[in-house]
Order: sequence, then structure tokens, then C-alpha cells
Amino acid sequence: MILMNVSALETPAVLIDLDIMLSNIAQMQRHCDALGKAFRPHIKTHKIPEIAHMQLEAGAVGIACQKVSEAEVFADAGVEDIQIPYNIVGERKLDRLMGVNRVCRLTVSADDPAVIDGLEAAARRHNARLRVMVDLGTDIQRTGAPPERVVELARRIRDSQRLDFAGLLVYPSTVSNRPRIQAALTMLHDAGFAVDSVSGGGIGGAAQAADVPEVTELRVGTYIFNDVNTLNAGLCGIEDCAMRVRMTVVSRPDADRVILDGGSKTIAADRTDDGHGLIVEYPEARIYKLSEEHAHCDFSACSARPSIGDIVHVIPVHTCVVTNLHDRIYGVRGDYVEEIWEVAARGMVY
Ligand SMILES: Cc1ncc(COP(=O)(O)O)c(C=O)c1O
Repeated sequence: MILMNVSALETPAVLIDLDIMLSNIAQMQRHCDALGKAFRPHIKTHKIPEIAHMQLEAGAVGIACQKVSEAEVFADAGVEDIQIPYNIVGERKLDRLMGVNRVCRLTVSADDPAVIDGLEAAARRHNARLRVMVDLGTDIQRTGAPPERVVELARRIRDSQRLDFAGLLVYPSTVSNRPRIQAALTMLHDAGFAVDSVSGGGIGGAAQAADVPEVTELRVGTYIFNDVNTLNAGLCGIEDCAMRVRMTVVSRPDADRVILDGGSKTIAADRTDDGHGLIVEYPEARIYKLSEEHAHCDFSACSARPSIGDIVHVIPVHTCVVTNLHDRIYGVRGDYVEEIWEVAARGMVY
């Protein structure tokens, strides 16, 4: 339904091209279906329950959330299968986690006996059972146990009273991490564990998934909107970038400098060697600096210059953090706004 013309929106405004987003949803689901892997979209990219329901209707088995507060929003919105691939630590947070566990099929991950013991204590307090995956460390060196510790952790889960061993969690499940996955699985099998699920992910992991057959499920987030990072990684084209931040030229201080009305509070401070985002109408321009409310752009490489009052559209460097900066974002088709979504899990980082 057409709600208004895009020109009626104040700038800066975060637009989502609905046709591109729907195509991205369908394409990733087809990719997973063709590989025989379950698809579990990571909602940290959009933080909007209405979009999660579209992903589920397209065939996703459930969703992944990064934080308990995010999971609370999506459980409230009726999502029935939620994974939190994160060490949940602290009694108050664990009590909230158990609240989510009461209303949906919840799975969490753990990479240390202390984390497992906290989960077990919470499950006891709430007289409930909880599904726990073992988080396997990878080459990004974030969380995750090395392969040789995975059996010890799986045993601790199995030998607990209230926890169920739910498989192996890997991020990112790229080819470079396949030897670790294989080593961990061999050790688990040798120790008598049936591993029903190997949940991998990341947009790079999804692209390489055919070469990591051990992975049974993929968690991917960024694919839904895409951004300069996924463009630069060769994982999408400009035509697959659904998020464009509509901005107005507010100053032309000299011949080559153009100032837009959104800065780090609008598109976040992430940058690449090429700057802070891609201006669709002027791909040769460079956003070389961001103030809080200004984008400083160098147009010296462009044959044309915009005037004060002109509108441009910026593809951000990292779409997931942009969503978290805005109360609402707009689904558009051509010149028309067809959806206004509240970013319901905005700020849900605890
Ligand atoms: C644990 C985990 N799984 C999946 C993803 C999704 O990755 P991507 O944004 O590359 O799709 C992330 C991203 O940060 C993650 O941390």
C-alpha cells in the first residue's frame, strides 16, 4: 500500500528497497534449500519482527538473535524458534533468558564450564530444560573453545541435570575453519556424541557453504540489506544493496567539498579504505570524514556536482549498525513509501 511519496520524508532517512530485500530473502533461502541446509536468519541486521516473519514465511527454521533483550522482542512478536549464539553470563540476565525459554524453543551456546554452570543453575531455578550448543573457536579469535576442549564441554552439558546438548556452533563457518570443525566432530563422535546440528554462518560462510558439508544450518544476517562491506568482499552487487540512506546536500563550501546532512549518528563511523559509504548517484565521490551530523565528501573525481538541496542516497559501510541508530526505517518501491517499520529491537544490546 502506498503511504506517501519518498519526497515527503525528512532527511536523513533510512530506506529499504522492498523488491531488493524480498529478492535477497528468496535467494538466500533458495541457496540453503539447494544445499540441503536449514536457514536461520540472524535478525541483528534488521531488528524488525515484521521482517523476521517474512524470512520465516520464506522457509527459515527460526531466527538467531545476538542478545537476550533482542530475543525478548522477537519472542513477544511470536517467533517460536530462537537461537542466541552467545555466552549468557550473570544471574539477572540468565533469569530473563529463562523467561524467553518459557515461551519458545530456545538454544544458546557456551564455550566454558563456568558459562555452562550458570546456565544449569538458571534452568534449575526455573525448573526448566535448556538447549545448549558448544561454541567452537575459529580463526576470527572471538569466543569459542578449541577443538580439543569440545568433548569436555559437551560432557558437562550432557552430565548436567537440566541442559540438553544441542550440537556445535561455529562462526564464521568458512572453508578456512573446516579443519577445526572436522576435528571437533571426530572427537565428539569418538566420545559417543550424536551431533544433530552444526550451526554455522556469516555471509562468507554462506557463500562457501557447499565446501563445508559438515555444516547443517546457516545463520546469515547482512544478506538481507547488504552494504559496502559485502560489496567489497564480492558477495553482492550494487543491485543487491537494499539499504540506502537518503540525505540532502546542505553545504558546498568549496569547489570539491560537498556536505550531507547525516554523519556518524546516521550511518555509523565504520569505514573502508574508500571512506564511509558509497554515494549511489556519484560513485566517484568519497565520504572522507564524518562529523556527528555531517558527511564530508570529496567530489574532485566527479564530473558533476550536486547543488544545495539536492538529494543523494548512501549505501552504508556496515548496515547492521545503521539500523540500530534509527527508530524507524522505510520500505520503498520507486518513489513511494509502502512500509514504515519501527526498529523494535533498536538498542537491545543487553
Ligand atoms: C554468531 C554470529 N552468527 C551469524 C552472524 C551473521 O553474520 P553476517 O552478518 O556475516 O551475515 C554473526 C554476525 O556477526 C554472528 O556474530
